[in-house]
Amino acid sequence: LLPPTIRQLLSNTSNSARVQVNGWVKSVRRQKNVTFAVISDGSSAKGIQAVIQNGSLAKVLTNGASVRLGGTLGDSPGKGQDKELRVEEVEVVGECDPAAYPIQKQALPVDYLRDNCHFRARTNTIAEMLRLRATASDALQQFFNSLGFCYVHTPIITSSDCEGAGETFRVAPPEPSEPATHPTENKPSEFFGHPAYLTVSSQLHLEALATALSRVYTISPSFRAERSLTNRHLSEFWMLEAEWSFTQSVNDICAVTEGAIKDVLSKTQPHAQVFAQATGRSRILEHLQTASSTPVWTRLSYGDAVAELAKYHASARKFHFEPAWGKPLQSEHERWLAEELVKGPVFVTDYPVALKPFYMRLNDDGKTVACFDLLVPHLGELVGGSLREERSNLLDKALESHGLDKTQYGWYSELRKYGGAPHGGFGLGFERLISWISGIENVRECIAMPRWAGRMLL
Ligand code: 4AD
Ligand code: MG
Repeated sequence: LLPPTIRQLLSNTSNSARVQVNGWVKSVRRQKNVTFAVISDGSSAKGIQAVIQNGSLAKVLTNGASVRLGGTLGDSPGKGQDKELRVEEVEVVGECDPAAYPIQKQALPVDYLRDNCHFRARTNTIAEMLRLRATASDALQQFFNSLGFCYVHTPIITSSDCEGAGETFRVAPPEPSEPATHPTENKPSEFFGHPAYLTVSSQLHLEALATALSRVYTISPSFRAERSLTNRHLSEFWMLEAEWSFTQSVNDICAVTEGAIKDVLSKTQPHAQVFAQATGRSRILEHLQTASSTPVWTRLSYGDAVAELAKYHASARKFHFEPAWGKPLQSEHERWLAEELVKGPVFVTDYPVALKPFYMRLNDDGKTVACFDLLVPHLGELVGGSLREERSNLLDKALESHGLDKTQYGWYSELRKYGGAPHGGFGLGFERLISWISGIENVRECIAMPRWAGRMLL
């Protein structure tokens, strides 16, 4: 249906074949008798090396221009590529003034690229990040499909706050343009008859679908009006969420999480290598290698984690926040657990009930819930998951103690009353996964067009 991409050409086409290449000029190196240009169509990290002997053909090639080149493929004597394109025809499809072009060849500051995010996919890093996202999402879908999960789509506009944390964006219709003709019409009416929000998590809807299809998953945008300006938080991010019925232990949920991530690590290895080469940071690769080759990732209860943290704090006083049972783990604690104590990914399980959302299943001790956070080196929390409270009476109590309106969650409670089954699942932050694999330090560079408090371009 379509001509081959440069990636397809390079892997499927034999030497001396006449080919046509469509792409953008990434760099031009002019020598006395020959010009070398790198042409990329974004299909691979490297693009293709074009060799132009004819000086007048070479003259029209400038950085950033879109071009169509005709020629033959041959082995490249130069370093860095196996094949090259020996150019016979050049057509400039779209000119680009190299002096005014916002994407210059040298490394550009991250803030400058954020300001120009309509252009930044043209940089090597962001383009490779987008290819990594595609591979990772494909790997996750293959993994869940192979386990008999059904890929579903859940609502973006919702009536409930899944995490109950009050960080929802309100959805409002446009103000009526006509002035009100009657005093009672002054009050703006709710578009849906009641307040509407952008989803913070697909979990509750997935739970409903898991009572029919047993195993479901989705990769969906999530929206959070949190004001944390950290390198791990976005206002709009993507989450892989899986939910399945007839599971009764957190350990099983950890095992599926671990299996999914290990699969992604193995399938995205070539991308990780590109990033490590580009940045010279092989330490990231070592971490990924350790995670891949560890047979079973460590499981550590919250209680034990706090005990370890407290022991270390007593001897070294290294933390800003004192660790204590009942208090949330701060990111300095999370990173110490993964980087120093375990030196690899660690599932911290069974947090105190007061620290977690209403839907998590209460443990027999009455103080903790059957949940986990997966913490990984150099990132912190990558995944959160749990068994869900399937006992109606305990769910009612949890809604009450979290100060949530029972009538709003009526449909959710009904799932328990009619053929309820023990079930659970997890949510994996997609940009954090990309950050971990690529070594890109800020999730704002792990999505094409980032949004965070105070900033939304395009
Ligand atoms: O821990 P969270 O809040 O869990 C849930 O939303 C559950 N309902 C998921 C489930 O069990 N189905 O979010 C899950 C993950 C986090 O571990 C983190 O990786 C990511 O989503 N995440 C964010 N990523 C970027 N920006 C934010 N503001 C994020 N908030 C959470
Ligand atoms: Mg969490």
